[in-house]
Amino acid sequence: MSEKTIGKQPRQLYLLFFTEMWERFSFYGMKALLIAYMVTELKFDEPKSYGILGAYSALVYTVPMLGGMLADRFLGYRRAIIYGGILMTIGHLVLALPQEWSFFSGMAFIICGNGFFKPNISSLVGTLYEENDPRRDSGFSLFYMGINIGAALGGLLCGYVGQQINWHYGFGLAGIFMFLGLIVFAWGQKSLGQRGLAPDKEALQRKTLGIPNEYLIYGGSLIIVPVVVALFNRHEVMDYMMAILGGIAIVYVLWEAFRMERAGRNKLIAALFMIIFSILFWAFYEQNAGSLNLFAMRNVDMNVMGASLPALAVNNFLPPGWVVVLSFFFAWLWTWLAKRNAEPSTPVKFGWSFVLMAAGFLIFYLACQNATAGLINLFAFAMGYMFIIAGELCLSPIGLSMVTKLSPLRMVAVMMGIWFFASAGGEFLAGKIGKLMSVPEAVQNNAVASLPYYATMLKKIAIASAGAGIFILLLSPLVKKWMGDTK
Ligand code: PHE
Repeated sequence: MSEKTIGKQPRQLYLLFFTEMWERFSFYGMKALLIAYMVTELKFDEPKSYGILGAYSALVYTVPMLGGMLADRFLGYRRAIIYGGILMTIGHLVLALPQEWSFFSGMAFIICGNGFFKPNISSLVGTLYEENDPRRDSGFSLFYMGINIGAALGGLLCGYVGQQINWHYGFGLAGIFMFLGLIVFAWGQKSLGQRGLAPDKEALQRKTLGIPNEYLIYGGSLIIVPVVVALFNRHEVMDYMMAILGGIAIVYVLWEAFRMERAGRNKLIAALFMIIFSILFWAFYEQNAGSLNLFAMRNVDMNVMGASLPALAVNNFLPPGWVVVLSFFFAWLWTWLAKRNAEPSTPVKFGWSFVLMAAGFLIFYLACQNATAGLINLFAFAMGYMFIIAGELCLSPIGLSMVTKLSPLRMVAVMMGIWFFASAGGEFLAGKIGKLMSVPEAVQNNAVASLPYYATMLKKIAIASAGAGIFILLLSPLVKKWMGDTK
């Protein structure tokens, strides 16, 4: 292709990089505030707050299945991204209003918008490369970097403004940056040429009942908003919804697998094995957005050289910050190992991701054992996160490419949706695990008394994670066999 590049990458990658960076800034900036806002400002009790956080985070990653389908069939990626960006901007601005009704409706708009935005911006990155373009993987790594730079800045700024100044300013700040991302994309999208346009523009313009189909899709999808608000009000219904959807997904994959010849069947079963374990990974990992936010506020010593650091900002900056730093290390490590023909297989990497996460939670637990006046050391807190994020980097990017490699071509898009849905399931379970760390109101402001509520669970998570890791490592030769010729 004679198209312009910046460095080695197609120049449009940078448009998508910055759009996604600002979108994730707003997404994680808002998420940083969520649990603490519910507990300290709205005065929800802790179990209820964890329930709502779990429902929000699960729904936000369930709807991309629908958003991906609508974009593939009708809207094309670009329209979906713009509409999703508009809905998310509205959602964040609604949250900025200090009104009682605004909380659930704001989150509902963000969920709906994310469904249109998140899957389709990644697919659009995919369109920048020809089938076997060797730059594809490094393009996606750069994109993952954009995600995490945005998340780190968002956690830092919104976390600080929300906790120290005013919760609604924090949410509003997130909205401003989402709008910035939208402007960047709308202004730069011309450079994409034909990529990401609607597959059949005429079908979009055709009218049904006097309304063009395009607007029917936009309007119709808003039905999600009141449904989600209803689900927040009765969040126990989510238990059934997640169990039923999860059951359908598993039966569907098995049904497809058993219709195939042996090699294809085994590959799908290998993918399913890893997808199911990824649920557990996210369930532990996502304590970051829930229990660990409150833990950071109550039980981590934020005093550094006389200054008191803002806990929410620190807790939400650390994980994506470590992703940015450790990505360089892992990029180097995988190539170094590959050159020596010693790069571990995907199931082995999955096993290690749990072992590393266990080490992270073990550090948190040991720090609790050595706490002074109920406060743990900030350096230990940061080191714990370093191991957890090393675990993420052995699973999250690898899982994405695993799904594309192990699924038959006709199933790639659905399997991608199922991969996202697995993280939704994990987020949901994370809320349940968080609930077990609820601290009674009477001791919420007493560090010595609140510490044991966290310490016991942190230890259990470390043990469970180590157990899962060892189990996967033991089974990895079998799973590798199922993968056949796929590396
Ligand atoms: N943190 C990454 C992102 O926001 C990867 C991720 C996606 C993790 C979905 C969990 C669920 O894109």
